[in-house]
Amino acid sequence: MYIRSFADSNGDGIGDLIGIHDRLDYLADLGIDFVWVTPFYPSPMADWGYDVADYCDVDPRFGTLDDFDTLINGAHRRGLRILVDLVPNHSSDAHPWFRDALTGPDSDHRDYYIWAAPGPDGGPPNNWIGYFGGPAWTLDEASGQYYMHLFLPEQPDLNWRNPAVVEEFDRILRFWLDRGVGGFRIDVAGALVKDDLLRSNPQIGPWDPTADRYEQWLAFDHLHDVFQPESHDVFRRWRAICDEYDAYLLGETYHQDPQGLADLVPGDGMHGGFWFAPMHIDWEVDKLRRVLAGPIDLVGERLLWAAGSHDVPRSPTRFGGGDLGRERTLVLNVLFSCLPGVPVLYQGEELGLVDGRVPEEAVLDPVDNGRDGCRTPMPWAPGSGNGFTSGEAWLRSEQRADNETAHAQVGEPDSWHSRYAGLLVALGTLPDLVYEPLVWTDGGYGPVIAYRRGPVGVAANTASDEHHVEIPAGASVAYATPGVRVDGERRLALAAHNAAIWVDLS
Ligand code: GLC
Ligand code: CA
Repeated sequence: MYIRSFADSNGDGIGDLIGIHDRLDYLADLGIDFVWVTPFYPSPMADWGYDVADYCDVDPRFGTLDDFDTLINGAHRRGLRILVDLVPNHSSDAHPWFRDALTGPDSDHRDYYIWAAPGPDGGPPNNWIGYFGGPAWTLDEASGQYYMHLFLPEQPDLNWRNPAVVEEFDRILRFWLDRGVGGFRIDVAGALVKDDLLRSNPQIGPWDPTADRYEQWLAFDHLHDVFQPESHDVFRRWRAICDEYDAYLLGETYHQDPQGLADLVPGDGMHGGFWFAPMHIDWEVDKLRRVLAGPIDLVGERLLWAAGSHDVPRSPTRFGGGDLGRERTLVLNVLFSCLPGVPVLYQGEELGLVDGRVPEEAVLDPVDNGRDGCRTPMPWAPGSGNGFTSGEAWLRSEQRADNETAHAQVGEPDSWHSRYAGLLVALGTLPDLVYEPLVWTDGGYGPVIAYRRGPVGVAANTASDEHHVEIPAGASVAYATPGVRVDGERRLALAAHNAAIWVDLS
């Protein structure tokens, strides 16, 4: 859930904690178990809250700590758990630690951050670049030293080799655990600890500081800035703390390679890690097969499957737009649903939302080819403001069509919302699959992707024409998207971009 855009309770145009509280029934009725809420801590909002100025408080624009307690209690009454977003890689430059660090090399908190003298040419200390493009270093003129930041200059990276930082975060975790959170989503989990010698990365392609941020990133082999094995010591330590509370640690584990993901979640640290490859492919059956099968043997039940997030264009937009993109996204979610791991929906995916349209002059995301389209307000109801706010939304976007709203879709048998809610209901009726091995039953070719886990089978037609699948005699269909027909005793006909789940208890 992207809190700024979920629900605004007080008309200031910004989603807030009470807004979430007031929609808990919607969430519970959808059939989910956990809600991950993006950062709501005090922040100058240079990166919309991912620049934290106080890890143990609530920004007044999102509410108060009392509102947070109200939200947690309301969630628990409905059997929902709230995960908060922990942002340990960097703080805001407005955090008192960084403010103090800026007072000079001898300040108490100088070593909470990563500082280095200029390189031999007087420029940055090494060749590291940021995820948002450009050098990962900014000069502090007062001291003549550079500080490091993987994201904006307003987001200085914390020094995880300093035990004092480690201890600060132990306290932060306990602060939220004592308030009843169900765990943490760990922002930028792969990058906490940096190379102790701050060595330059090997350059493997031409670097153009004006190029697209992904291109810039790919010009280097990131041996020394991200994915250092020492980060794992931090996760192991947090795991021990979370185990005391029966809480979960889910990582933003942005590794495109299954082995890299497996290294980040070996089992004794974070409980789960997001697998991002499905967010970076075209709709092509071989690619789909590869990203679905790729991490399973290595990561198994620790996988988190998601088609979208607040950082990439919405899945229906990426996969062709309109109803085509919506159908494909539902099919992908059906495929995710019985694989080892946990399926995750991004707010509004259950309404079939494509990216919201943000007029060029209203763009707010600081990052190039921005993330505003997937962050426009949740459309609750028809009309101006779409029921998100009674005021003016923080991010201006075109009003959504009536049929895109929750009001129009909830309880309507043919709506996207009903298809997603139906999928979640169906999953709740299936036998426990955790110990059932996964077997791909599609032979590895053709437009239908299919697998079996014990008594449960899943089949999805990824093509734009009809295909058939065989199911065992006696199997019953537990879930089907609208274009699935029973075609004889042991056969299902799947229209273009349709999927089904069956159970064979015989
Ligand atoms: C993660 C967040 C993203 C944020 C970045 C820096 O990737 O999901 O929204 O900009 O970290 O904190
Ligand atoms: Ca508000």
